[in-house]
Amino acid sequence: MFITFEGPEGSGKTTQIRLLAAWLENRGFGVVTTREPGGTRIGNGIRALLLDIDHTEMTPRTETLLFNAARAQIVHEVIRPSLKAGQIVLCDRFADSTLAYQGYGYGQNREELARLIGYATGGLVPDLTIYLDVQPEVGLARKQAGSSQEWNRLDAQTVAFHRAVQAGYTALIQAEPDRWAVIRSESPAEDVHRAVVELVASRLPAQVEEAL
Ligand code: TYD
Repeated sequence: MFITFEGPEGSGKTTQIRLLAAWLENRGFGVVTTREPGGTRIGNGIRALLLDIDHTEMTPRTETLLFNAARAQIVHEVIRPSLKAGQIVLCDRFADSTLAYQGYGYGQNREELARLIGYATGGLVPDLTIYLDVQPEVGLARKQAGSSQEWNRLDAQTVAFHRAVQAGYTALIQAEPDRWAVIRSESPAEDVHRAVVELVASRLPAQVEEAL
């Protein structure tokens, strides 16, 4: 089972993935957690290029290609082999981030992006995508209050950009309501975790759910 987490900056994806992984592991599931961009040696090299706050000259097309280059590597090296081995894969961001940020945020052609994503992933689509819903201003404030090392080139975009990204996510969710689940993420992490667990438990195969 392939589960991805999406949401604006500071929506708590990393914390929720950690909590969900522990919950699943405690119940005997094999879990692999990973993140985009990154998750592999090559992907981490690409991540450094992408998020460097000094790379102000990077064009949206270069950015799009780099995100998808890192994606091709993580799908090949981590995600497909783990799914094949029967593990539950939890990924912090995936292809929907490209559609939301590069598509709706930077106005890149979404049909071209969809083709590029198909090329990078070989057509791999998540079974479930959890959108952690916070207002962009709240998320950015949370992130800015954290370590400055986490503050990256995309965070430094305008609030209008982050609003466009949020509108993009709304459109993506409406287009594929069966794949997406929206969880409000402004409450304490434990409350959000409970909602995530309830959702994931209901999506696990029936025989597994009975054993819980
Ligand atoms: P990261 O520090 O991992 O942020 P977050 O904790 O919010 O996931 O930085 C990833 C940044 O890259 C984030 O601003 C979203 C952006 N991004 C894209 O623009 N396109 C993509 O395809 C992906 C995967 C991420």
